[in-house]
Amino acid sequence: MEAFKAFFPNIEFGVGKWRLAGDIIKDYGRKAMLTIDPYLDANGFSDEISSILGKASVDIIKYTDIVSNPNCFRVDEAAEIARKENCDVVVAVGGGSAMDFGKAVAVVARQPGKAWDYTERTDHEVKRPTDKTLPIVTIPTTAGTGSEATHYAVLNNPEIKEKSTIVSTWVIPKVGIVDPEMMYSMPTELTAHTGIDAFAHSVESYININAHAFSKLLALESIRLVAEYLPPVVANGNNKEAREKMAWASTLGGAAIAHIGPVLGHSLAQPVGGFKNAPHGGSIAACLVKVLEFSYVADLKKFAEIAEAIDPSVRDLPQRAKAEKCPELVARLFKDVNVNVRFRDFGLKEGDIDKVTHIATTGYGFDLVNHPRTVTDDDLKRLYRECL
Ligand SMILES: [Fe+2]
Repeated sequence: MEAFKAFFPNIEFGVGKWRLAGDIIKDYGRKAMLTIDPYLDANGFSDEISSILGKASVDIIKYTDIVSNPNCFRVDEAAEIARKENCDVVVAVGGGSAMDFGKAVAVVARQPGKAWDYTERTDHEVKRPTDKTLPIVTIPTTAGTGSEATHYAVLNNPEIKEKSTIVSTWVIPKVGIVDPEMMYSMPTELTAHTGIDAFAHSVESYININAHAFSKLLALESIRLVAEYLPPVVANGNNKEAREKMAWASTLGGAAIAHIGPVLGHSLAQPVGGFKNAPHGGSIAACLVKVLEFSYVADLKKFAEIAEAIDPSVRDLPQRAKAEKCPELVARLFKDVNVNVRFRDFGLKEGDIDKVTHIATTGYGFDLVNHPRTVTDDDLKRLYRECL
């Protein structure tokens, strides 16, 4: 058995946990920069969280100018406010964008340079976050990104239309408050797309060549939960049990990629997110089945195990037949949750393929090298074309 290092992020999980946020956050700071999705601010949730934190004597400075694929320049702006206001903790409430935005604010608030300087790219010298990073507490309101459990903060640079990621253990939240109640009102399409993102985290970390016993344990349970509970929660958003299971699946998927990162699916999808501002879950959904079709021959055992986690009825098939079924079962899952998207739905055109391929290799090369099947530039271009 291979050697590995295992940890589990600090998670407060359960219905009603968000109401304990004041007592949890006061251990990390007394003046919080609250980065919160604008829709949550508009529906009054900022006031509720302010009141809860106020009772624990935690003051709040609120920042809400957050868009999906979070803008690195807005991060710099929010960090400047956090610095001037002497904020000593970041509380990030929302989907992956608000959480990653908050993580990046925590990096830049007390360290030199701009947010983009800290992103992991081969075309510039990468600044590394240190212990000056503010403590972060996250409260996810979607079940997908798993950002509450990861050392990633994905940012978008709208000037060059590229996404890139801060990768540092300093951005692992001190606590992730994962409360399924926060996800009860998620719209149907967002539920489906974010659920597919959680699924992709688990599948991609599972097939990553560096996957180990602990990361695979997390990933396989997450795959099983998404396969069982995403279709019912998309069919009926009031299914509280399914909301709970999806919340847990998302955290498990995040914890899996916190050990072993994603591979080809995210390398293909993230450039489209940056270049065309495509929603993250949607761009993953556009390519994941093709990625699995391309990849399963490289590791029949793992793909057979994934197929069995999705649908236990394939258990008695020979290994190769099970592995071949894996992309088919994922396509069926996507159909069950009414997700049928292509990159062109987000505005990608044939003429953009060279550009996104370049971004995939420069910005996400570190994920590509861990993919089980060798991926050339020609493979990337062909896959973009097939998913267009
Ligand atoms: Fe993702």
